[in-house]
Amino acid sequence: MKKTGLFYGVNTKKTAQIGKQIQEAFGTDQVDIVPIEEAWKTDFEHYDNLIVGASTWFDGELPTYWDELIPELVSLDLSGKKVAIFGLGDQAGYPDNFVDGVGILADAFELAGATLVGFTSTEGYDFNKSRAVRNNQFLGLVLDLENQSDLTAKRIAAWVKQLKKEWAE
Ligand SMILES: Cc1cc2nc3c(=O)[nH]c(=O)nc-3n(C[C@H](O)[C@H](O)[C@H](O)COP(=O)(O)O)c2cc1C
Repeated sequence: MKKTGLFYGVNTKKTAQIGKQIQEAFGTDQVDIVPIEEAWKTDFEHYDNLIVGASTWFDGELPTYWDELIPELVSLDLSGKKVAIFGLGDQAGYPDNFVDGVGILADAFELAGATLVGFTSTEGYDFNKSRAVRNNQFLGLVLDLENQSDLTAKRIAAWVKQLKKEWAE
């Protein structure tokens, strides 16, 4: 069976909470959690399917740790791996940089040769600009706990269902 690793920063509290919810939606024995604070090159190379998550901070930047990992990430060979990204942001507070971290991660994993999966619709969100958007779609799952927390469970469930399908293809 293919192995799935779920990478996120345990120091970013809301992201960590969402990461656990995503793991539970898959079934805890199906997905390993790897804190990015402790992640090494071999951890990324070890898994066939990767789920990576981050919030956006500092007006459109990744939080520390992810930020520091990017130069190493882009130098890896992750060809053949299917990567799904989730991101947290605040569309009302940061409408010009909404979940930019998703776009930064997408660029890095593509540079490393990975295939991105798990794109979602931008319908139902209200913002001006985002690096997470390509061809009118988000490059992953986008969650806004500040303004749309009531939609989080439904969005996670639909995304996990979508990933199971895309990873089987
Ligand atoms: C100082 C600061 C800067 C932020 N910058 C952005 C931003 O540029 N874009 C965005 O979408 N959200 C931004 N946010 C919102 C966070 O991404 C959001 O609150 C997220 O849920 C935090 O998750 P975490 O606790 O896992 O880091 C910012 C929040 C703070 C406190």
